Amino acid sequence: MKTVLIGYMGSGKSSVGKKLAEILKIPFKDIDTEIEKHEGISISEIFREKGEIYFRTLESKILKKLLSQSESFVLATGGGTPCYGENMALMAGKEDVNTVYLKTPLAILTSRLFLEKDKRPLLAHLKTTEELNDFIRKHLFERIYYYNQSKYVVDNKAENIDETVEEIVLKLF
Ligand code: S3P
Repeated sequence: MKTVLIGYMGSGKSSVGKKLAEILKIPFKDIDTEIEKHEGISISEIFREKGEIYFRTLESKILKKLLSQSESFVLATGGGTPCYGENMALMAGKEDVNTVYLKTPLAILTSRLFLEKDKRPLLAHLKTTEELNDFIRKHLFERIYYYNQSKYVVDNKAENIDETVEEIVLKLF
């Protein structure tokens, strides 16, 4: 069984995913890391040197490849993964995949991402917290349609990731 974590940038997909994989004793995979490994450069460099369309095409290809494997794992997707091409339909349509949306409040996303925005090509140009907050609010509004197609929705308000992991485990089993 594969557990695929979905949610906006900064929603904790990687940290929750690592912990969840540890508890379930299965490997943890991160789609951004797989993309970086494939290209040998960082996500920011891919966006800068090859463009977003190239990135999205590769993201879909790598997602398909990961989901075609028979082994169990926890996968952290990128914030945009479910929102392009057939990616969400692919994830939602597989019997051996549980999709979990980590629903995180806007204020938490804004404060986390303000500290990390330089690593995110879609956010790096935003200067103030207000600008960032405004961008995320609108972006989230566009993306929520895809996120909500997940099998499970977990409210990810807690600063303590253990609570979120526990809630996911309770939903899965
Ligand atoms: C993106 C999210 C990023 C990364 C890329 C694009 C997005 O992943 O895939 O910068 O479109 O939301 P994280 O959600 O892990 O930051």
